[in-house]
Amino acid sequence: MIRVEGGHPLRGRVRAAGAKNAALPALLASLLTDQPVRLERIPRIADVETTIDLIHALGKRVDWKDGVAEVHGDGELWARAPRDPVQRMRASFIALGPLLARCGEAWMPLPGGCAIGPRPVDLHLYGLSRLGARIEFTDGLVYARARRLRGATVWLDYPSVGATEHLLLTGALAEGTTTIINPAREPEVVDLGRLLEQMGARVRWAADRVSIEGQPELGGACHDLLPDRIEAGTYLIAGVLTGGETTVTGVVPEHLQALVEKLKDAGASVELGEQEISARRGEALQAVDVTTWPYPGFPTDLQAPLMALLCCAEGESHVRETVFASRWGHVPPLQAMGASISIRDDTATIRGVKKLHGAEVVASDLRAGAALVLAALGAAGTTRIGGEEHLARGYESFLNKVTALGAKAWEET
Ligand code: UD1
Repeated sequence: MIRVEGGHPLRGRVRAAGAKNAALPALLASLLTDQPVRLERIPRIADVETTIDLIHALGKRVDWKDGVAEVHGDGELWARAPRDPVQRMRASFIALGPLLARCGEAWMPLPGGCAIGPRPVDLHLYGLSRLGARIEFTDGLVYARARRLRGATVWLDYPSVGATEHLLLTGALAEGTTTIINPAREPEVVDLGRLLEQMGARVRWAADRVSIEGQPELGGACHDLLPDRIEAGTYLIAGVLTGGETTVTGVVPEHLQALVEKLKDAGASVELGEQEISARRGEALQAVDVTTWPYPGFPTDLQAPLMALLCCAEGESHVRETVFASRWGHVPPLQAMGASISIRDDTATIRGVKKLHGAEVVASDLRAGAALVLAALGAAGTTRIGGEEHLARGYESFLNKVTALGAKAWEET
């Protein structure tokens, strides 16, 4: 349980951790080679621990110290992924292609993960089958086999982050060139491409596609991860919401452009440096409309944190969620704190109130958890938030970071 005493503006500087969504595929890329892969700026979060558990279970050794993870391979890989890590974390599913490429067959449980609506893996499996995999389902498992994987053109119905990463990873060891048309272009996907290039594959981005030229074998690499734009965005919103001023350092400002524009529209002053962004509240917060969209659109992972801010903006905001059909787990707890929100189809309408009040609430998923802490920081009185384990999945030292900025927040047993 997290206890937050509201009403203390957040002020100061905070350094962004390495990106969760870049760390997970980068760690799984190590399955493609027997050579050592050294990854820097790996955040200390539960989803990274889960990924490392999976890599261990598949036969690799991982040394993880002071933000640096080194993955070593000294033997064969196991082709059967254990249920637990995969069901705990959906992102593990993209290990299927690398295992298939290395072992000729692989078993992978169907994934679990955050409670943010149905998240099928049809695009992943379609893509693998285009590369020559035979796919079967048995007892909650996906079984894939392929004597040889051959590069192919895969047209994605939707620019899925996971499917694009899965096909880049698999294409890296396929014979010839794999071309993904309509790929995801999130910075974390591009970062994975850079790592695969270091390992020996050739990756080429064009306006509507990405191609990867596979190699019979890949080498090791040493790679510094991207900063976490979602974590950074969360602290920027926190500064504005509480009427303070936060500066996030060690970021790529361009990756936060969509949020920066919305914060400005809401009346915040935002300054961009070379590797940092500062944001503070102007006079009063104004309502804004926002639609979540694949990059460079507004990230769905910041929808809940931004909504926490809009709860107290003057006027009526409309938040349209197009990436995950039912990503509204944060709405009932925000309502319990006094927010006026109604949902119709894919759009939430938020009528700004003067102030939220403390309540006892539960986080349903990672970003809902962040949104509730932010709402509590700006609310009158004390809020108790359950489901804190969700926050630990994706935010490194969240409470330490916000208390260093002046928040009054504690973990209670
Ligand atoms: C990744 C991120 C997550 C982010 C999301 C969208 C990681 C570890 N997670 O998740 O933080 O919120 O991108 O930016 O990087 N879909 C299908 N079929 C598929 C695959 C996806 O229908 O085979 C649908 C999903 O249900 C969802 C949409 O596509 O509605 C987007 O999913 P996707 O881009 O794949 O997100 P993830 O990779 O799961």
